[in-house]
Amino acid sequence: MAAALSKSFCLGYYFLLLCLIGFISHPAKAAVKKYLFDIQVKNVSRLCHAKPIVTVNGRFPGPTVYVREGDRVQVNVTNHAKYNMSIHWHGLKQFRNGWADGPAYITQCPIKTGHSYTYDFNVTGQRGTLWWHAHIFWLRATVYGAIVIMPKPGTPFPFPQPHREETIILGEWWNNDVEEIEKQGSKLGLPPNASDAHTINGKPGTLFPCSEKHTFAMEVEQGKTYLLRIINAALNDELFFAIAGHNMTVVEVDAVYTKHFTTQAVLIAPGQTTNVLVQATQSPNRYFMAARPFMDAPLTVDNKTATAILQYKGIPNTVIPILPKLPAPNDTAFALSYNAKLRSLNSPQFPANVPLKVDRHLFYTIGLGINPCPSCLNGTRLTASLNNITFVMPQIGLLQAHYFNTKGIFRLDFPDNPPSPFNYTGVPLTANLGTTLGTRLSKIVYNSTVQLVLQDTNLLTVESHPFHLHGYNFFVVGTGIGNFDPKKDPAKFNLVDPPERNTVGVPTGGWTAIRFKADNPGVWFMHCHLELHTSWGLKTAFVVEDGVGPDQSILPPPKDLPPC
Ligand SMILES: *[C@@H]1O[C@H](CO)[C@@H](O)[C@H](O)[C@H]1NC(C)=O
Ligand SMILES: *[C@@H]1O[C@H](CO)[C@@H](O)[C@H](O)[C@H]1NC(C)=O
Ligand SMILES: *[C@@H]1O[C@H](CO)[C@@H](O)[C@H](O)[C@H]1NC(C)=O
Ligand SMILES: *[C@@H]1O[C@H](CO)[C@@H](O)[C@H](O)[C@H]1NC(C)=O
Ligand SMILES: *[C@@H]1O[C@H](CO)[C@@H](O)[C@H](O)[C@H]1NC(C)=O
Ligand SMILES: *[C@@H]1O[C@H](CO)[C@@H](O)[C@H](O)[C@H]1NC(C)=O
Ligand SMILES: *[C@@H]1O[C@H](CO)[C@@H](O)[C@H](O)[C@H]1NC(C)=O
Ligand SMILES: *[C@@H]1O[C@H](CO)[C@@H](O)[C@H](O)[C@H]1NC(C)=O
Ligand SMILES: *[C@@H]1O[C@H](CO)[C@@H](O)[C@H](O)[C@H]1NC(C)=O
Ligand SMILES: *[C@@H]1O[C@H](CO)[C@@H](O)[C@H](O)[C@H]1NC(C)=O
Ligand SMILES: *[C@@H]1O[C@H](CO)[C@@H](O)[C@H](O)[C@H]1NC(C)=O
Ligand SMILES: *[C@@H]1O[C@H](CO)[C@@H](O)[C@H](O)[C@H]1NC(C)=O
Repeated sequence: MAAALSKSFCLGYYFLLLCLIGFISHPAKAAVKKYLFDIQVKNVSRLCHAKPIVTVNGRFPGPTVYVREGDRVQVNVTNHAKYNMSIHWHGLKQFRNGWADGPAYITQCPIKTGHSYTYDFNVTGQRGTLWWHAHIFWLRATVYGAIVIMPKPGTPFPFPQPHREETIILGEWWNNDVEEIEKQGSKLGLPPNASDAHTINGKPGTLFPCSEKHTFAMEVEQGKTYLLRIINAALNDELFFAIAGHNMTVVEVDAVYTKHFTTQAVLIAPGQTTNVLVQATQSPNRYFMAARPFMDAPLTVDNKTATAILQYKGIPNTVIPILPKLPAPNDTAFALSYNAKLRSLNSPQFPANVPLKVDRHLFYTIGLGINPCPSCLNGTRLTASLNNITFVMPQIGLLQAHYFNTKGIFRLDFPDNPPSPFNYTGVPLTANLGTTLGTRLSKIVYNSTVQLVLQDTNLLTVESHPFHLHGYNFFVVGTGIGNFDPKKDPAKFNLVDPPERNTVGVPTGGWTAIRFKADNPGVWFMHCHLELHTSWGLKTAFVVEDGVGPDQSILPPPKDLPPC
């Protein structure tokens, strides 16, 4: 393991030599890890089509950022593409340091063509699998990669040491330019074209044409145990993942250890990560790993299956693998029972510090809708809202506006409740379709404990929505189908070992309750991680105020922060 770690640790090719020397002389010391991310366009061929895509260092998926808990990371992003760029370090808490968080026009202005910005942050109190991705328009379709945070030296994993580990990044592929796809949809006011394929480590696999070179394979030795770090980097699809003939033991989600449980398939929403152990105990053969969407609303998705291969050592490539049995795309029962099995490890070493007392109660309804749009195909455009507010992106970064007290950029009057209560999941589809537009945020007192109930509604359609909060992990204390009942449901909350994560699915026609302690001052984006819905306005941000202590305020902005 030490050898494997030192190798991967030194894969960042910035200061490779320094890294090697550093590792040999100080194997246990926290370090500064430097990376160069060169945003460049590269021709890539999939599904028999070659097309130019935006990449980091010409790689797709992009390079893995390997760090250790306690390290400082400096990523110099230089933009040589024609698009504006920003990178988000998804799940990193960025304590007092929203300047390094990345969402364009929320915490920074974009890095323009020909310019650089160095994301400088410390990895504190976190270990596990996270990921990074572009956070501007739909560019994360091809600009993404893994973040692997190893535990502090001498701290073992709270599960059997794997023989080897592998990153499995699930994604979506479009044959056309993704920005064109998005533009076309938004011009028409309709959903853009669905993706043409799903991918595993950037490759669609053998169920798609021209896939000879485009199938990911992982070699295993019989009797050994492997750690898979699974990341859902897809733009719009919640996915099932399974391996033929092999069960998986879930040990971590969103870089937080969980109680172990064994499953035949994993359910993973865009933005989420899941670490599983796989034991290579079957007869030596080639086995398909496969990913396909979960969609239990009456909507069409790209339901095609991406595959990769788990290949036992010594088995020739001519052997045709068998497919795993994935849950049906509309298997709600599997989804609910899978999510119900997720529990924080909650050990003395890794406790679940669930806030027991709530200072601030928030209740946000999720709605899809139709707004007027004279230039659109039908004179209307599809839209989305929280508490009936469709978020309007500002022209400058909200964090700057907050820090420098610039007036007129946003309002701090995002309502704690919907304008009026209604039968959220029972309302007729066409009820109250219009929404109000605004850049409206919610102000949160430093160190207060927040409970947020996210309620899906039947406005236009019910659907599952994975919500991501920047700057924090939260505890998923409760979830249910139908309308949240403030009198009865809190009594059923799990306040002992609920899953702790940064992205959670609100079930189709249901609700999810999360809690977090607002101890990280800044402006923190919260949005549906289906890019389609984010672009329709399903987003807002929290302004967490500074505290009074010396370590309780936002750090000064870095000198190279991109101007607008
Ligand atoms: C990339 O592919 C396009 C066709 O999609 C072609 O016109 C262009 O010349 C290629 N560029 C490079 C650098 O190969
Ligand atoms: C970032 O990289 C670019 C391109 O190599 C370089 O010009 C710039 O000086 C670097 N910035 C820093 C802060 O090192
Ligand atoms: C990261 O830690 C280093 C060393 O303690 C410190 O100098 C630096 O200011 C920290 N950076 C941030 C963004 O907190
Ligand atoms: C979307 O799909 C339609 C129908 O297949 C096609 O005509 C159109 O060109 C596609 N749009 C883009 C931007 O690729
Ligand atoms: C996987 O789990 C299922 C259900 O618990 C069980 O029936 C099956 O035998 C297991 N398969 C393997 C290969 O362990
Ligand atoms: C995928 O969608 C197609 C077209 O809508 C449908 O014919 C097919 O049955 C679906 N496959 C699955 C596994 O649901
Ligand atoms: C799931 O989809 C299958 C195939 O399309 C259909 O037969 C079945 O009724 C659906 N189940 C539910 C619960 O909607
Ligand atoms: C837009 O108009 C077309 C053609 O009349 C129709 O098929 C489609 O359902 C309409 N879409 C919406 C969202 O109203
Ligand atoms: C909400 O709507 C559902 C479906 O129409 C209905 O069954 C339920 O009784 C309604 N609830 C209330 C409180 O009106
Ligand atoms: C949302 O706001 C619009 C515009 O103010 C209003 O017409 C509509 O009734 C509201 N819908 C809901 C569900 O409150
Ligand atoms: C934050 O609140 C907790 C109680 O929830 C309290 O123990 C702690 O001292 C507070 N910290 C600060 C910095 O105010
Ligand atoms: C890039 O970002 C700058 C600064 O926000 C903005 O002025 C410019 O219009 C953007 N360019 C594009 C192509 O979006």
